[in-house]
Order: sequence, then structure tokens, then C-alpha cells
Amino acid sequence: MELRHLRYFVAVVEEQSFTKAAEKLFIAQPPLSRQIQNLEEELGAQLFERGSRPLRTTTIGRFFYQQAVKLLTNAEEIKLITQRASATERTINIGYGGSLLCGLLPRIVYLYRQQYPHSNINLIELNAIDQIQALKEGRVDACFSRVRVSDLAIKRVLLREEPLIAAVHSSHPLSTQKSISLNNLKDEQIFVYPPSDGQSYATQIKSLFLEYGMEPKRFSTQADLQQSLGMVAAGEGICIVPESVRIMQFRHVNYVKLSDSAAMSPIYLIVRNDDEGELARPLFDCVYQVYDLEAIEYDRRVF
Ligand code: BEZ
Repeated sequence: MELRHLRYFVAVVEEQSFTKAAEKLFIAQPPLSRQIQNLEEELGAQLFERGSRPLRTTTIGRFFYQQAVKLLTNAEEIKLITQRASATERTINIGYGGSLLCGLLPRIVYLYRQQYPHSNINLIELNAIDQIQALKEGRVDACFSRVRVSDLAIKRVLLREEPLIAAVHSSHPLSTQKSISLNNLKDEQIFVYPPSDGQSYATQIKSLFLEYGMEPKRFSTQADLQQSLGMVAAGEGICIVPESVRIMQFRHVNYVKLSDSAAMSPIYLIVRNDDEGELARPLFDCVYQVYDLEAIEYDRRVF
């Protein structure tokens, strides 16, 4: 008796039909029936009630089914554990946009390390344009980004959209509101980051105002998230950040919800166009496992 006999038997029981099981297994029905017959002969037991429609298992058949399912599950587990344990040690280089470290990135990396103990992860902070260059040059294998950059050399998958919030000094009248809108912010000094010639988080924030027909005059570009929040803490202006940035606590910085429906920040996983998924798929799995654990809604997508 081989594992494939158990697979055939389980398929027939679950489909309650030789014809449907044969279709599911991509084999013709006569050889399938023969294999089950051989199995019954080898076991010296009748597994199905003759002539029953839909096909019913005998009492001994039900017992055999339960044992077969256990054995097949065990075999699958052994295969997965062995594949993971024997995976050759390798390093995966991941580029990421700064603010993602405030959110789920550390958890995703932790989970990946647990599930692929033979892999090393190297995290490299890179802005959106540099991520593309680093991917092309092979300096990184995958990137997490909030910026939608298009390039023939890469492919990108939207993981989820995260709400944006406003960081406001505690002395500002808006800081105690439950929720505010972009319209409340259009005349404020607005800190954006990072300085970059091309597409960036800063250009995304500016476009967000444009979407609502507003063109604030007082944008000020800062080096990064940390510096922008520092300026907010100094009472110099406001900054629009992803919700996960709430964990960055600065004295006198309050975070306030934005009510505008477009005030969302996409999170993308980006890989080279010729990546067959060998690296991206395990990362994908870890991201979605963390989303499930955190009860975060998402549309599961593939490359
Ligand atoms: C997230 O917050 O959804 C996320 C952060 C970093 C990498 C991937 C996803």
C-alpha cells in the first residue's frame, strides 16, 4: 500500500463517487476503481457498500478513512518541515520605506524568521526611487513601499490601504477634535518628507489635497518622519502620517483622525519583474498571516 492509494481512497470517500474522484485526481475512472479494488484485497476488507448511490463507506471503511486522513496530513507536515529545515542558508535583502517600521514590518520579519530559520533578513531603509534602483541592481530582493512607482523592471502588489491621520501640536485647537478633515489643514504649515525629485510620500500627500481641489501654499519638506514629527512637537506645523505612526510618542504631539475617504496610504510589496515568486511568496504568506492575526481586512492578491 502506497500513499497514493490512500489519496485515491480519500478522494472517492469525499466525492462519494468514483467518477467525480477520478476527475479531481486527473485520472481515468477504470484505473481508479482497480486501485481501490486492489486496496480492498490487500486489506481484506470491503471499504464501500456495493451499489450504494451516492457511494457510502462501510463501518470499516469509515475507520480506514479517518486513519488515512491522519497519515496523509502527517506526511504533508513531514514534507514541509523537512523542506524548511533543509533550505540552504540564504540572506534576503528587503528595502522598506521608513514609516513601515512603526507598523507591522517588525512582526512580519519576526514571523518569517520563525518559519524560515535558515534565512537571514537584512532590512534596508530606502526611499521609493532608490528602492527601484536597488531592485534593478540586485542589492535588494523585495521592497515594501507606500509609494506607487511604475517601472518596466518591477512588479507591484497592493497589500492593503492604511488610514492616514494628522499629527498636531497639543496647543492647537484641532488637536482635541475626534476627527478633522483635510479642509481644516489647508492653511497650516504642513511638513512632508522625504526630499526627492520623483514620486514619494511627500508628492502623495500633496496629490491628496489636489484630489479635493485644494492646493496648500505652506508645504515644508523635511528629511524624514522623525524630523517632521519633531517640528510638529516644536509647534511649527502639522504632518499627515499613516495610522501606525501613532506609536511614535513625542511630547505635545497629538494624533487626530482624518475623515476624508481618500486619506489612505497604500502599502505595496515590490519585486523584480523576473522574480518567479520564490522569494516573494513566503513573504506574502507571512504578511497575510500577520493580517489574519491582527484581524486586518485585505484582498488576497498574487503576482
Ligand atoms: C502593513 O502595515 O500592512 C505592512 C507593513 C510593512 C510591510 C508589509 C505590510
